[in-house]
Amino acid sequence: MGSTGIDSLPSFSPGFKELSAPQGSERRHLTRINNHTMYLEILDGKLHRAPISDDPQMWYRHLGDVKSSVLFLCSRPHDLFKDFADKYPSAEVIGIDLSPIQPATVPPNCRFVVDDINEQWQYPDNKFDLIHIRAMAGSVPDWVVFHKIALRHLKPDGFVEQVELSGQAMSDDGTLPQDSALVQWWELFKAMGQKMGNTFAAGEVACESINAAGFIHIHKEKIKVPIGPWAKDKKLKEWGYWNLCFLLDGFDGFALRGMTTVLGWPIEKVQLYLAQLRKELKDPTIHSYLYL
Ligand SMILES: C[S@@+](CC[C@H](N)C(=O)[O-])C[C@H]1O[C@@H](n2cnc3c(N)ncnc32)[C@H](O)[C@@H]1O
Repeated sequence: MGSTGIDSLPSFSPGFKELSAPQGSERRHLTRINNHTMYLEILDGKLHRAPISDDPQMWYRHLGDVKSSVLFLCSRPHDLFKDFADKYPSAEVIGIDLSPIQPATVPPNCRFVVDDINEQWQYPDNKFDLIHIRAMAGSVPDWVVFHKIALRHLKPDGFVEQVELSGQAMSDDGTLPQDSALVQWWELFKAMGQKMGNTFAAGEVACESINAAGFIHIHKEKIKVPIGPWAKDKKLKEWGYWNLCFLLDGFDGFALRGMTTVLGWPIEKVQLYLAQLRKELKDPTIHSYLYL
């Protein structure tokens, strides 16, 4: 993987450079923490928005259950489900991911399972109080079918919560040219999703799909997350840094394989495209954002 160039960003958050500087696996580990931290920053530090009580005792009384069960889908790199298990020590917390990278340590009330969420679920119906899904765009062939399965495995008063960062960059002030690499990104991922049969528009279809699957009391939130530190507002500026760091760290990993194997681009064309994308991502005159 080539250099992301993030070392050349102006300093904003204390620790930003330290987080982005290490190379290899250590650097990837730290930037993954950035990723989890970015979601936490945007969601007011909350691990979930589903209206389960912050007081676990109240939660268990409310559920009238000895033990609550929570399922995290596609849980690698584990930060979210481990934090959740720490926060709710008497809940049974299960994290699932295809990738067999076991966390080194986990709180005693949580376990990690290597499994394919598109295969038959190995859990009883009506088991879970919360099923949490984050950043699963491109991983599910039919979201309505998927949400129906989730509904079957939830207790009758349980919740599904889904958090997705869209790949569709926008701007409100015309600073993002329609022929930019950043706009093209979304078109490429739409084409990739069509070819693979797994849409990347998970955030765009989630609410409709949850509704079609038969859920009630659906709550949808759309939050603008700037790309880069261009916003005047201090909080948005900081989100912009996190988002930029996340994108610079992750996009070539997403793109290289998909664009070569799925779209059939030669590697040189992908590299040229990614160089342009990197330039645009760091261009402070482009006031772009993504929706969470
Ligand atoms: C973009 S990462 C998101 C990780 C985590 N949910 C988060 O928010 O940080 C997508 C994860 O989904 C996992 N994944 C993709 N398809 C899957 C499947 N069919 N079953 C289980 N995990 C899957 C990948 O291994 C990867 O860890």
